[in-house]
Amino acid sequence: MSFNGQNLQPFGPEIWIADGPVTSFYGFPHSTRMTVIRLSDGSLFIWSPVTLSTGLSAAGDALGPVRHLVSPNALHHLFLAEWTSAYPKARLYGSPRLRRKRRDLSFNAELGDAPEPAWAGDIDQVVLHGSFALTEIVFFHHHSRTVLFADLIQNFPRDWFEGWRGVAARLGGIVAPHPSAPRDWRSSFLNRRAARRHSRACSRGRSSGW
Ligand SMILES: [Fe+2]
Repeated sequence: MSFNGQNLQPFGPEIWIADGPVTSFYGFPHSTRMTVIRLSDGSLFIWSPVTLSTGLSAAGDALGPVRHLVSPNALHHLFLAEWTSAYPKARLYGSPRLRRKRRDLSFNAELGDAPEPAWAGDIDQVVLHGSFALTEIVFFHHHSRTVLFADLIQNFPRDWFEGWRGVAARLGGIVAPHPSAPRDWRSSFLNRRAARRHSRACSRGRSSGW
């Protein structure tokens, strides 16, 4: 299925992924990928939307109405304006820091530890606090048993970065076959107590059906 000019790949029951263009992050090439979840009411939950193109409408109609545009952290915001223009009736959700960073966007709600009523039956979530650099909301899709991490866990192919960037990426711990939280961000979790508390909330969630 063509979606957004990209291939929309089934990932599990009621969940799809689509890859977008490569972007630059401080000179490092970063791939982009979004996730589409169809909620029980038939509407679509779009996580980290990638760039939008003309193939969107047909594929969107085929899957269901786009109702929720979700940015999990303050780094995943580059394509939100395209989506809010194309889907003015969709609700936009962002992390606390992103709302301050992108005052040009009209967010309908700020993401917290409690899932929005609109998706609470399908998706759970927790805010991973404790870092001065990155606050990310981690989601869990019950039906497919999929956890959605954006930047907290990274896993680039071994040959993705070239030269000194490849060395830096390996030292940073973001290269296959050992996906992990980048070391620089790990060290930004100065409030370890808060991070542990929220990590435990994730773990409890998993053991109780997450
Ligand atoms: Fe990212």
